[in-house]
Amino acid sequence: MAKSGEREQWGTRIGLILAVAGNAVGLGNFLRFPVQAAQNGGGAFMIPYFIFFILLGIPLMWIEWGIGRHGGKYRHGSAPGMFDVLWKHKLAKYLGSFGLFISLTILIYYTYIESWTLGFSLFSILGFFSNETVQTMPNFLSSYQGITESSTFSSIWTAYLLMLFTFVLNFYILYRGIAQGIEKLAKIAMPLLFIFAIILVIRVVTLGTPDPSLPENSVENGFAFIWNPDFNQLGNPIIWLAAAGQIFFTLSVGMGTIHAYASYLKPKDDIALSALTTASTNEFAEVILGASIAIPVAVAFFGLDMTKAIAQGGAFNLGFVAMPAIFGSAHLPLGEIFGFLWFLLLFFAGITSSVAMGQPIVAFLEDEFGMDRRKAVLTLAAVVLISVQLVVFFLKYGFLDEMDYWAGTFGLVVFALMETILFMWVFGADKAWKEMNDGGDIKIPRIFYYIMKYITPVILAGIMIWWFVQNAL
Ligand code: PHE
Repeated sequence: MAKSGEREQWGTRIGLILAVAGNAVGLGNFLRFPVQAAQNGGGAFMIPYFIFFILLGIPLMWIEWGIGRHGGKYRHGSAPGMFDVLWKHKLAKYLGSFGLFISLTILIYYTYIESWTLGFSLFSILGFFSNETVQTMPNFLSSYQGITESSTFSSIWTAYLLMLFTFVLNFYILYRGIAQGIEKLAKIAMPLLFIFAIILVIRVVTLGTPDPSLPENSVENGFAFIWNPDFNQLGNPIIWLAAAGQIFFTLSVGMGTIHAYASYLKPKDDIALSALTTASTNEFAEVILGASIAIPVAVAFFGLDMTKAIAQGGAFNLGFVAMPAIFGSAHLPLGEIFGFLWFLLLFFAGITSSVAMGQPIVAFLEDEFGMDRRKAVLTLAAVVLISVQLVVFFLKYGFLDEMDYWAGTFGLVVFALMETILFMWVFGADKAWKEMNDGGDIKIPRIFYYIMKYITPVILAGIMIWWFVQNAL
């Protein structure tokens, strides 16, 4: 059993909830979701999305909070030690390390993108976008990334310095620790994030038709683009896979970040309600706020066809090409300020998620190698700063997409399947159920016992096999 007293703990309940919500609410909510929904059947996408929220998202949340708090009792803050507690077998630790590997991979590219959002918020307020159009922005972005040259950026150094600054800030927060670092960050960043998002949503929904001579280009049609259901698409397995992938990514399940946060709970702290609260907060930030900014405003300014083409180009295209052009030459009134808010919102969304990806690795080095926090953070910093060079300098070879594809989607499903089997079958469904409900402010509805034991693992295995057949054979 744990030696009591020394392990770090969350300061307050609200701080914990904000930290886990910060972990979940990220770039995925404001960039990835609207593009996924628009591309995969609009309102019809919400059917598989909601089904997987209930059958995968919520159950995995409870499972991960449960494994995490349980592992914390044995002073483990990361998946290798936690899996070892669940399954007394040599292999357990190695299966758990897979989660650390995913966190590390996503951390590296995610934090680099996060640094772009910081840069773009400054560029916005400084008026750098005032003459940029959708046609010129791709070169702005690629010159910023050091791939091409433009009159604004002749080399990668601006991006490089912002990248270093963002990483150092992340490491500093991790170094300050759970209550003084991560929790404090969440208490500041999350309320601001919601305020900025609400300001932007109000701005977008009151926009109407910016150019009266083009009545088709309206916010209403923007919402229709996201929400009008195309039910024919439901027969297409791609849509279902996309919905499952989005649920994973947006809730941050499937790699060990939730476990790490939950390991700093006290043994009798509530899990049942807290997990549900953070998942719901994430869905509010995704379905209500995330869907009401970028796509509707793009349709209002550029029209439906062009927005479709933009969405085809992916989430980055929407966030870093179309949005700057709207704040710039498309002349959204006070565009510099709204642009500043938009990118700062993304930065807050990003940093509260990236520290969550770093924490399991720091915990791993502390708990399993006995390092103090300073040494653990410095070790992580060294590994990350070396690996990030690859991402920064080889971006043009599609490095980022490749990493996102394997670690950010396939890896999560594999990890989730392993943990579900370990918790619900190896450790035992009854013990697991007791652990998840222990100290709970609500009782988890009994039906979830069966969902977690039978349905969740079967769906996960199905997705994994399907994916493998599509991609590897
Ligand atoms: N949930 C975060 C987002 O929506 C991303 C994330 C994934 C964070 C996995 C932590 C772990 O952007």
